[in-house]
Amino acid sequence: MAESNTLKIDISKTKTSKIDSVDFNNLSFGQVFTDHIYECDFEDGEWKNPRITPYQPIALQPSAKIFHYGQSIFEGMKAYKDANGGVFLFRPEDNYKRLNLSAQRLAMPQLPKAFFMEGLYALLKLEQDWIPSAEGSSLYIRPFMIATGEGFHASPADSYKFMIALAPSGSYFSGNVKVLIEEKYSRSANGGVGFAKAGGNYAGQFYPTQLAKDKGYQQVIWTDDNTHEYIEEAGAMNIFARINDTLLTVPTSDRILDGITRKSILTIAEAEGIKTEVRKIKVEELIEASKNGSLKELFGAGTAAVVSPISGFGFKDKDYELPELEHTFGAQLKKRITDIQTNKVDDPFGWRIKVL
Ligand code: PLP
Ligand code: COI
Repeated sequence: MAESNTLKIDISKTKTSKIDSVDFNNLSFGQVFTDHIYECDFEDGEWKNPRITPYQPIALQPSAKIFHYGQSIFEGMKAYKDANGGVFLFRPEDNYKRLNLSAQRLAMPQLPKAFFMEGLYALLKLEQDWIPSAEGSSLYIRPFMIATGEGFHASPADSYKFMIALAPSGSYFSGNVKVLIEEKYSRSANGGVGFAKAGGNYAGQFYPTQLAKDKGYQQVIWTDDNTHEYIEEAGAMNIFARINDTLLTVPTSDRILDGITRKSILTIAEAEGIKTEVRKIKVEELIEASKNGSLKELFGAGTAAVVSPISGFGFKDKDYELPELEHTFGAQLKKRITDIQTNKVDDPFGWRIKVL
């Protein structure tokens, strides 16, 4: 294990493991949870009491500020097991840094690195039998921080809890994803919290996404809040478009999450000789490219789905189909990134971290 131990993590084990009741060949996404969680508390101005306990309900006061003012942030990462039982993480340092960026924006305390990494490593060591090795499956890791401090005063809480829960998971989407380009609702605004992984960002997406589902689409393509002329994200993923043989994605901003999959895919694409461009993309440009046949692919990229191909999009009551190609950049890049993550190929970028 690479991470040194500077924290004393108290471990209290469950008496009855649920592992035998889980069908590891038939996993959906984030529905089954492992036996234990890691948690620690922020009280009196410091993080303390790192511990691993059985997975169980959390007792909070009704006046805890998480319930009223939404101080809640999270991360999403995965652990992978290779054919020899080795356990790996992918760029975990980046998730740790992003958690603290989110914490800063939501006026929550910074989490020291040891409380994140050592807790995560200790939990993975204890729960290693839960890490699936079947193709396309992994152990989804959900670090999160909530305000536990009490009070109806609309101000930051004085106490917090950081926890890590684990869910052996299969794929996030099944089948083709048809998306609706949003013209009315926004997921984020200039100066807002869109770049943070704040719980409320996702709550705000559910209603517009449901409206899109009612019309037969699975996801919303978010556009800029000001003009709705530029595409920004694909649901809870970053967006990529292939026009002719150039792979495009939009620049990150305070409205867009700086995805770890996004930046990894850009790096891999460049290494594989695919021409990339990071620039704003107008909805109009996609429609024109679709009409003249130069729009070859659209896909979302994120930890959960890795790469999620989009089969078509709707805009202003019209539908546009993407071509069905034999070879896609999306499939090529997904294979390369998952092969790196699961230790099937060399990792020239230094992203894969061996945990066990
Ligand atoms: N955009 C949003 C809004 C997300 O929630 C996520 C998921 O984490 C992403 C993009 C992709 O980020 P990452 O690749 O770091 O998982
Ligand atoms: C991701 O990890 O890719 C996500 O989009 C997180 C999601 C499950 C909310």
